[in-house]
Amino acid sequence: MSAWTPLTGQVAVVTGASRGIGLAVADVLHGAGAHVVRLARSLKDATSERRTDVRCDVTDQTQVERAAAMALKVGAPDIVVNNAGMFFIKRLAETSAGDFAAMLAVNLTACFLVARTFLPAFHKRGRGHLVTIGSVSDHHAFPGSAAYASSKFGVRGLHEVIAAELAGTGIRTTLLSPGPVDTTLWDEVDPDSTPGFTKRAAMLKPSDVADAVLFAVTRPARVNVDAISLLPAVYTPRD
Ligand SMILES: NC(=O)c1ccc[n+]([C@@H]2O[C@H](COP(=O)([O-])OP(=O)(O)OC[C@H]3O[C@@H](n4cnc5c(N)ncnc54)[C@H](OP(=O)(O)O)[C@@H]3O)[C@@H](O)[C@H]2O)c1
Repeated sequence: MSAWTPLTGQVAVVTGASRGIGLAVADVLHGAGAHVVRLARSLKDATSERRTDVRCDVTDQTQVERAAAMALKVGAPDIVVNNAGMFFIKRLAETSAGDFAAMLAVNLTACFLVARTFLPAFHKRGRGHLVTIGSVSDHHAFPGSAAYASSKFGVRGLHEVIAAELAGTGIRTTLLSPGPVDTTLWDEVDPDSTPGFTKRAAMLKPSDVADAVLFAVTRPARVNVDAISLLPAVYTPRD
């Protein structure tokens, strides 16, 4: 049986693709035939069969522009996935100004930088798909989430404004908002031994999120999947 490769000939850029959700998204898009350009701070610049890795801190405009130049050498990007992110739980009183700024830099400002840097290539061809990984925290408030929710509510706002500005262009945008996913993002919280959190075994897997990205980017060109909310089947938002 031959593999399903609907993305053959396409170039997909994924930020934060060294592990977790971003790595799973990159692998699924690669499996569907795309040439995948992975960005992360811990990756070394490298190219192999339909894979290009770029060491890139997405909070740094110069590094994002360098990554875009390297991606364009592969080919004009068809898909850009804004995934890189960080997470911590601290109540407002324990959140320093530095904590807050660091969270916004990665989860929000970097999405703006990546969108602004890559969208001109979409406009040039009149097509492209920008996928943003939000969170249940882009629309639900949890105690201890002042910084995270501010960044994720912000990224939902950014997605909605970009979608409004792109109306009528044929360029597609998707906000994918997952509930808890079993990745290293949860290591500090240690949800299995902390009451009130979804246990790792009940969480979504990175491949579940990757499958949802694949669904969105493989719809016919007339279809725009504006938003996807993905929650574990057994899930109660903590109070
Ligand atoms: N896990 C969840 O429960 C969950 C739920 C909803 C939404 N999300 C969102 O999903 C996204 C991915 O989360 P994850 O769970 O896969 O986290 P993760 O396992 O901690 O991976 C985070 C990724 O982001 C990259 N990254 C962090 N800072 C970066 C920077 N400044 N520049 C470039 N890359 C950077 C990391 O690579 P390097 O360290 O190599 O740079 C890594 O590849 C995040 O936006 C997160 O908010 C996660």
